[in-house]
Amino acid sequence: MSTPWLHRFAQRTQAVKSSAIRELLKLTQNPGVISFAGGLPAPEVFPTQRFQEACQKVLAEKGPEALQYSATEGYLPLREMIAANTARYGIMAKPENVLITSGSQQALDLIGKLLINRGDRILVEAPTYLGALQAFTVYGADYVSVPIDHDGLRTGQLEDALRSGPKFMYVLPNFQNPGGVTLSEGRRHELLLLADKYGIPVIEDDPYGQLRYEGEHLPPLVVVDRENLRRDNGYTLGNVIYLSTFSKTLAPGLRLAWILAPAEVIAKLVQLKQGADLHTATFNQMVAYEVARDGYLDEHVKLIRKVYCERRDAMLQALEQFFPTEVTWTRPQGGLFLWVTLPVGMDCHELFQAAIAENVAFVPGDCFYVTDDAEARRHLRLNFSYSRPEVIREGVRRLSIAVRHQMQEHQLVPTAV
Ligand SMILES: Cc1ncc(COP(=O)(O)O)c(C=O)c1O
Repeated sequence: MSTPWLHRFAQRTQAVKSSAIRELLKLTQNPGVISFAGGLPAPEVFPTQRFQEACQKVLAEKGPEALQYSATEGYLPLREMIAANTARYGIMAKPENVLITSGSQQALDLIGKLLINRGDRILVEAPTYLGALQAFTVYGADYVSVPIDHDGLRTGQLEDALRSGPKFMYVLPNFQNPGGVTLSEGRRHELLLLADKYGIPVIEDDPYGQLRYEGEHLPPLVVVDRENLRRDNGYTLGNVIYLSTFSKTLAPGLRLAWILAPAEVIAKLVQLKQGADLHTATFNQMVAYEVARDGYLDEHVKLIRKVYCERRDAMLQALEQFFPTEVTWTRPQGGLFLWVTLPVGMDCHELFQAAIAENVAFVPGDCFYVTDDAEARRHLRLNFSYSRPEVIREGVRRLSIAVRHQMQEHQLVPTAV
């Protein structure tokens, strides 16, 4: 295409790959396709009625304030609520440690802006959250990756990666996106001791921590950091920046999330956020506060856990019933995704085309890797939060037809079930 605009784009835009995945995902919106691709919450659980009441209350009681510009740091009652809620998990944050952002996606972008110089190496898990790679790559990030297994990031391989001098480490300890795995408690300690030994800060991204369907809650890295290393109370010495969001517990359309960090980090992030959007929407923050207050959010999260646990179980049962034994998958204790591994020789993109022909979709696994190798192409990410159990079952049945077909194409003989 000949247009002068292409030559005008800044160098930083060149690192951003034209997203083949976005093109693929358009196919998932075809009518009749059952999509396990997006990370969408179940629309049936959105608390619409409570939102309606909250909107009316905010407008009736605080209309002018809600419709006005406001502080970049965020709405104070909301920041106080977040600080109080996170204290239950042992995170000792004060409101000045909390910055409200327009989604965690903006938090990742601001962190990239804050920390990444062109050519800086960032340590990520393999696989990792695609949106973080998109945010960091614009700032000229290079990557070093450490693989995950069923207990999360393989800390046994961490030290080699740390020796390469990364600027920071980006980790998803709970129900990883896309892997569905959780970093074990022992590894949380190991990771932080190593991070401390090499003086590498940690970005802990935790959108799913509250969505645990079984097993015990594990201490966040930000808490282990303090306990392990006997840092003082607040954040003055903290080496971990913690991110979470209301996207999966209330509604992603709100675009509301938060960063917990030492006050001096928040102060610089505030300056950077001013350049991005001045502040997160005042009205949304006030409405979210009204919706969440008086224990409502806790009750709502209980409902979400119940619904998603049923959907996870429906997907696990269907995989067990329909898939050949050569294919394996993770069994997440929470979150929204599970991660499927195909037999050696199979390719997730070929499978994607076959799956679309069967009217079912997923995200091909290689999008979540910083390297392009055959191993990365043996995976798929399946979302189980969005579709109802009976739809999940039908989608997995269709997917199993595509899998068997592809196995035969590759002269792999699927086991009959
Ligand atoms: C690991 C991770 N980080 C960040 C985000 C972005 O969340 P938000 O909707 O708050 O921008 C997501 C969304 O799926 C995610 O999975």
